[in-house]
Parts: sequence; structure tokens; C-alpha cells
Amino acid sequence: MASISYTLNCFLMIVFSDLQCRTITASLPLSPQGILLDVTKNSSTLLHTIQIHQDIDRPPLNLLVDISYKSVFVECLSTFREATFNISKCGSQECEFAKVDFCSEECEPGIFRQWCVKDSCFSSYPYEDNLIGSTILLGWIAEAHLSFQSISYNLSSKNLVDFPRFVLTCSDLGFFPGDGIIDGVAALGRSQEALSSQLAKAFKFSRKFSLCLSSSTKSKGWISFGDARPPLNPKANLTKYFKYTPFITSQYGIGSDYRTGMPSSAYFLGVTSIKVSGKTVKGFNHGLLSINGSGIGGTTITSTKPYTILERSIYNVMTTLFLKELESSQTNNNVTRVASVEPFEFCFNSESIRTKTYLGPAVPPIDLILQNKNVSWRIYGANSMVQINKDIMCLGYVPRIDNEFKDFYWSIEIGAHQIEDNILEFNLDKSQLGFSSSLLAMKAKCNIDFDTEG
Ligand SMILES: *[C@@H]1O[C@H](CO)[C@@H](O)[C@H](O)[C@H]1NC(C)=O
Ligand SMILES: *[C@@H]1O[C@H](CO)[C@@H](O)[C@H](O)[C@H]1NC(C)=O
Ligand SMILES: *[C@@H]1O[C@H](CO)[C@@H](O)[C@H](O)[C@H]1NC(C)=O
Ligand SMILES: *[C@@H]1O[C@H](CO)[C@@H](O)[C@H](O)[C@H]1NC(C)=O
Ligand SMILES: *[C@@H]1O[C@H](CO)[C@@H](O)[C@H](O)[C@H]1NC(C)=O
Ligand SMILES: *[C@@H]1O[C@H](CO)[C@@H](O)[C@H](O)[C@H]1NC(C)=O
Ligand SMILES: *[C@@H]1O[C@H](CO)[C@@H](O)[C@H](O)[C@H]1NC(C)=O
Repeated sequence: MASISYTLNCFLMIVFSDLQCRTITASLPLSPQGILLDVTKNSSTLLHTIQIHQDIDRPPLNLLVDISYKSVFVECLSTFREATFNISKCGSQECEFAKVDFCSEECEPGIFRQWCVKDSCFSSYPYEDNLIGSTILLGWIAEAHLSFQSISYNLSSKNLVDFPRFVLTCSDLGFFPGDGIIDGVAALGRSQEALSSQLAKAFKFSRKFSLCLSSSTKSKGWISFGDARPPLNPKANLTKYFKYTPFITSQYGIGSDYRTGMPSSAYFLGVTSIKVSGKTVKGFNHGLLSINGSGIGGTTITSTKPYTILERSIYNVMTTLFLKELESSQTNNNVTRVASVEPFEFCFNSESIRTKTYLGPAVPPIDLILQNKNVSWRIYGANSMVQINKDIMCLGYVPRIDNEFKDFYWSIEIGAHQIEDNILEFNLDKSQLGFSSSLLAMKAKCNIDFDTEG
């Protein structure tokens, strides 16, 4: 069984002796609240990572926070010590748990020459992020001994959370194209082997996690598993800001994945229309907003793409209306467009756009109107605009690039920039998303000030 050991005031002692610190761990009953991890935003990739420990005596692994992927994926053959993971045999509980169909008596797949494990099961599942693009991640199903440095909810100490038999997908060195900077994927999708689901099961939390990504690369955001959330700074009553919307399920379960025909583990939202400054965006085929009979279309949320991606026709009419509203707004009476800056098309002289104190640049708000028309997700300037440098800011939405799969994608993928400094609560028991909209409206941010230097 999983357990939590408290490393008493470890963060203070680390300054003096790292080793001494580890020897005073003591096993205590399971955390009643949940597990809280900090999340780092990388300034060059703009992607968000958490750290896990395979072995407390080794450097932690950096895993990409991916709210859509189904299984924790790690280059374990290169990063794990041999005794700390076991590749699962065909027909084992773990292979069943991971719903893996591939089973090989040979040394499949071919690249794993050094580590031929006969009679093992494989996972092969489509993956997509901004760093490596679109691919299929292939690896063995394995059980590994993992641990996490959980922060106490009063942000005063870190506790070591031990998970001796975690089911993950394990690959060989160099197989995950992160150049050694990224060691794998912390999957939080809708599946029983996702990190969130395995933690909930082992520690008897509600099947719920909350994500708050920092907009800053200097301050950390957080992810919380279970019911508790860290306090906002400054304290604010979130209850009245929180809104809820059910996840959409298609006839395929969760919106199927064209690449494999397997159910997707992504989360889908029922966006029914889009408004800019309260005016409905018109002139596109509204059928694009629903998932059709082939599992195509609809709206999903992603944490591995830095900006929201819109189907081209939706992008065209939305940005046209945005520009019209921006240029006719009384707040900004002389908006000056400047040359495009990749990957953005619409860029402006920063000085020509007034900047509000808390909500970012004073640009037209964008509302995603959800299934219950009374529930909408408002996106303010801080989440819509991207500051390129002190002189230039751009509208932070990008059109879906036409490629061979152009007909086979979600129509709206809400990206990381648009969910930063928002709290998103993924509740799998209730199959709904709770969202705060911008914390800036409460003069708060996602930053947790956990001072690891003590
Ligand atoms: C951010 O990612 C880049 C590219 O992968 C890497 O070179 C850099 O070291 C990372 N920065 C941090 C602080 O991890
Ligand atoms: C791997 O298998 C060995 C031998 O059965 C067992 O002692 C160990 O706990 C297993 N480790 C994991 C992480 O499952
Ligand atoms: C923080 O919470 C822990 C238990 O989670 C408790 O032991 C500690 O005293 C608290 N610290 C402060 C400063 O409140
Ligand atoms: C927060 O607000 C809700 C409704 O607006 C109210 O029911 C609740 O008591 C408030 N909680 C606190 C701690 O003030
Ligand atoms: C779903 O949409 C795609 C792309 O527009 C189209 O190719 C496909 O035929 C549609 N499927 C159904 C069942 O309508
Ligand atoms: C609008 O701004 C541009 C440069 O930002 C300036 O050259 C022009 O004179 C301004 N026009 C008005 C009417 O203020
Ligand atoms: C939406 O709000 C209006 C007015 O606040 C209310 O009358 C109506 O019942 C609500 N509709 C739904 C579907 O909740």
C-alpha cells in the first residue's frame, strides 16, 4: 500500500545536511487532505513540469504536465535503477489495468535491444505537444516505485509521499524526445492509469484534481490531488467565482481518437458559442463545436500547447470581430497594429493598448459560452494577449495548421496561456470541470510562495 512519510522540517535541514534529513522520515497515516505538488513553467518551451522521484538519492525526473494523456510515460530504462521497476507480463493485472492489447513473446518493439523482455505488454498511444509534435508513444507497461515531494497545504513543509507500485509506461533511453530536459509525461487524462486516478485510488481521495498554472517562469504554480486546495494569496472566497460545466462524452465514450480509433483520454467541454465583448461570433459552421459521429470536432483543454488553437474558419471570424471591437473601443482609441510575430498574426504597439491594473491589457473580453447558456468562461486581456517585448503584444490565439490530418482535429484546443492564473478543478466522480476564470479578478495568482531555501 501507498503511504506518506513526513520529512520533518526537511526543507530547513536541507541547507545543512541533505542526508541527515532523509534519515528522519517517519511513516504516518495517510494525508487527510491530498497531495500538493509545485509546477514549474519553462521559459523557453513555455511548458509546465512537475518533479517525481524514482529514488530519493537521485535527481528528480521532470515530467510534462499533460491533462490529456492517459498514462504516465517515463524513460525508465535510462533513468530508473533496475530493482525499482518491473516490466509487466502479458495477462498480468497491470496489463489489464492499462487496457493494453499489445502483447509480444518476442523482443518487441525492435529498438529495445538491450532490454529484451519476452512476454511483455506494450502501450502505443498518440501523443502531441508543442515540443515534439505529433507522435505515438510506445513503451512497456511496468510497475515502478515512485515518490513525490508533497507540499503541506499551509505551505510550511514538504512531505515525502511514497508509491511503491505505480503502473506506468516505460521506454528506453532517447525514446522520449525531450533531450534529457524532459524525462516523460505526467498524464492526468480520463483514464484509470493517469497519475490523478492512481493517486486517488491509493490514497482514497475523491477522484478530483485542481490545476493552477503560473503565468510566470519565476514563480511556481501548483497541482493538487484530492479535495483540498492551497489558500489563495491574498485570501479570497473562491466559491462565488467558481462555475461548473459537465464534460462532454460522445457516443464513443470520450470523443474518439482518429489516429488509433481508441477512445481519447482528453477532456471535452460543451462550448456552444463564442462572444467577443458580448457580441456573438458568427459566420462559421456551428457543427464544428460538437463532436461528430466520427469523433471529430468539439472543444478540448490542453496543457501541452502554449496557446489556444482554433479551427481556421473559427479563427478567422473570431479574430476579425476581436479586431473590430478592439479598434472601436473607447478605452483604446488609437490602436496601432505592427508586423506579425511568429506564431501570431495580430500584433500591436503595446503603448497603444491601455493596460488595466489587474486583468492585463484592456482588450475585448472573449467568452466561451458553455452548455448551460448561463455558464460562460470569460478570458480577459492577461490570458488573451501575449507580451512579446516591451513594445509589442500579440493576440495569443493561433489557427490550426493545415496538415495531412486537417479534417481530423478538435475545433478548439484551449491552450496553456489561456488557463494560466485560473484554477481548473477536474472532477471525475461528477464528470465536470470547475473553473475560477482569471484569479487576477480576485487580485490573486497561481503562485505558491513555498520557500525551499527555508
Ligand atoms: C527549459 O527547456 C529548455 C529546452 O528544453 C532547456 O534547455 C532548459 O534547461 C530548461 N530550463 C529549465 C530551467 O529547466
Ligand atoms: C519487482 O519485483 C520484485 C520481485 O518480485 C519485488 O520484490 C519488487 O517489489 C517489485 N517492484 C515493483 C516496483 O513492483
Ligand atoms: C502546517 O501544517 C502542518 C500539518 O500539515 C502542521 O504540522 C504545521 O504546524 C503547520 N504549520 C503552520 C505554520 O501552521
Ligand atoms: C463563500 O461564499 C459562499 C457563497 O457566496 C458562502 O456560502 C460561503 O459561506 C463563503 N465562505 C466563506 C469562508 O466566507
Ligand atoms: C466528421 O467531420 C469530419 C471533418 O469535417 C468529416 O470528414 C466526417 O465525415 C464527419 N463524420 C460524420 C459522421 O459526420
Ligand atoms: C496614433 O498613434 C500613432 C503612433 O502610435 C501616431 O503616429 C498617430 O498620430 C496617433 N493618432 C492619433 C489620432 O492620436
Ligand atoms: C439562466 O439564468 C436565468 C436568469 O438568471 C434563469 O431564469 C434561468 O432559469 C437560467 N437558466 C438555466 C438553464 O440555468
